[in-house]
Amino acid sequence: MEKIFAGILGMGHYLPDKVLTNYDLEKMVDTNNDWIVERTGIKSRHIAAPEQATSDLAFIAAERALKDAGIDGKDIECVIVATESPDTKFPSTACLLQDKIGAKNAAAFDLSAGCSGFVYALAVANTMIVSGLYKHILVVGAETLSRIMNWQDRNTCVLFGDGAGAAVVGQVEDGYGILSIDMGADGSGGQFLSQPAGGSRKPASHETVDAGEHFIHMDGSEVFKFAVKIMGRTAENAMKKAGLNTEEIDLLIPHQANIRIINSAAKRLGISMDKVFVNVDKYGNTSAASIPIAICEAREQGLLEKGKTVILAGFGAGLTWASIALKWSK
Ligand code: ACO
Repeated sequence: MEKIFAGILGMGHYLPDKVLTNYDLEKMVDTNNDWIVERTGIKSRHIAAPEQATSDLAFIAAERALKDAGIDGKDIECVIVATESPDTKFPSTACLLQDKIGAKNAAAFDLSAGCSGFVYALAVANTMIVSGLYKHILVVGAETLSRIMNWQDRNTCVLFGDGAGAAVVGQVEDGYGILSIDMGADGSGGQFLSQPAGGSRKPASHETVDAGEHFIHMDGSEVFKFAVKIMGRTAENAMKKAGLNTEEIDLLIPHQANIRIINSAAKRLGISMDKVFVNVDKYGNTSAASIPIAICEAREQGLLEKGKTVILAGFGAGLTWASIALKWSK
């Protein structure tokens, strides 16, 4: 059987209008701009308007991706939304999005893999395309983490932001698109980054709400140690699986959580920072949306012409990690 190559046919992203700077945060919680910039590299983040839910952000990004790919919603056969902040537990945000874009012929489901979610979803879409199951899949990373943020907890509220990025995935020219995938998980570290209540373990109750257990809880230093170890390793694995060496990488697009984590991954890989895409300063950590937003901006900046070799590398809640080596095909 003829080998099929899957890749990105079109992309779009969206960031809500409201910008929350470190100086704004200084007025809300005991923190300061210097601490946040020095420890994280973040200067500002975008926050969804009260009437905007995750599917609304996803919808704008998806419409832009469809337009970029020249594809109509009805030609999409599957919608996958990677998110940790769905509109509701069910129906899935993917089903809500499927309706909004008129993807009447599509299956739809959400995928939970924390900040690795978009890369996981791209890997799933790749399998569906190369197996011949579907021709066009919409893969979205979208978050409104501001809704599950404890704005009194300086350990977390300075780190995250809202946003969405979307990709139409389909068949590309032979030798282009997704070259390799590396994914993994370590559930033993799940407690380091979680939303403890609201599920079957701790259903919503007055007590769980009073205890703030519907907010993001994070052991920052444990997640930091994990991230520093894993991000370089998973990117390296994807490179090895694709038979690529460091010199052949044109651009590393890492999950945008913290500039120190990005620096250490680049160092491990021996990739100079001028080949590493960074926008964490503007948007903070948008979780599953961070990598597709970064891809869109890298492309807008002319860094992704046809034939460029790119590594996407993420880590996140779960704990999870995922990397993809990609030969840009547009
Ligand atoms: N402003 C001022 N001081 C602060 C703040 C803040 N916003 N937050 C913490 N501090 C204080 C702490 O209380 C601590 O004070 P103490 O020494 O008196 O106790 C001090 O600063 C140092 O805290 P550390 O935790 O040691 O600081 P660190 O250098 O480790 O940076 C950070 C903290 C930025 C959270 C870091 O650990 C980190 O980036 N971790 C990874 C987080 C991450 O990437 N999460 C997302 C994962 S992806 C996903 O799936 C969502």
